[in-house]
Amino acid sequence: MNSHNRLIIAVDGPAGSGKGSVCRAVAQRFGMAYLDTGLVYRALALHAIRHGVDDWQQLVGYAATLPLNFVQSAAWLDGEEVTLALRDEAVGQRASLLSAVPSIRAALLDFQRGYGGDRDAIFDGRDVATVLFPEACLKLFITADLAVRAQRRALELQLRGEDVSLDDVRFRMSERDARDAARSHAPLTVAPDAVVIDTTHLTLEQTMTRVMGEVERIWLAAGRRLPLT
Ligand code: C5P
Repeated sequence: MNSHNRLIIAVDGPAGSGKGSVCRAVAQRFGMAYLDTGLVYRALALHAIRHGVDDWQQLVGYAATLPLNFVQSAAWLDGEEVTLALRDEAVGQRASLLSAVPSIRAALLDFQRGYGGDRDAIFDGRDVATVLFPEACLKLFITADLAVRAQRRALELQLRGEDVSLDDVRFRMSERDARDAARSHAPLTVAPDAVVIDTTHLTLEQTMTRVMGEVERIWLAAGRRLPLT
């Protein structure tokens, strides 16, 4: 717990590992705020694409006062609803490129750390446990084999009506994984004190059971009462 008695849970992992579903369920059950930090990088990428901004300095300025907010599960950027636009594959790719720039990462820190105010909160991303909240009371690293993650992501995109092939999704995902893990600043790594959960052979329900067990443990250790359900 940090100085404000705010309980923070940090969840990291590669694209398509299922960390988002897990975080949403934890947030709902324990009444925590939830930020998918990938959306913060995606919002900046969407702005860059839509306005044709390639200059990093300009993007750093925009990032420092990022006009992004969330109303329930909808994302708004500059007063416009962008929930679906943020999920575009091209936006994810641009986000991955921009996120390798240290000054851009630094400019986005305050937005992420301040999210949720004094509320208990769960965050997911790539560097949550290592950079954003090294003091988090629970750190999870959720992962799965590339083939399984690509399959899940392709299905999700196809359900959204996007015409994608599994091979393409797998190729782009492996490219993005490699870039996220190889960058010199805040790469995707497992924090030494993180609990690693490999979901390759787990159903969503099995993953949830494991994660809920970990959250219950720290919840009780913090002297809190478990929610009824
Ligand atoms: O999680 P998601 O796939 O939406 O993130 C998009 C990109 O944003 C990632 O590929 C990664 O490069 C970047 N990112 C990051 N640090 C985070 C969250 C996302 O670098 N904490």
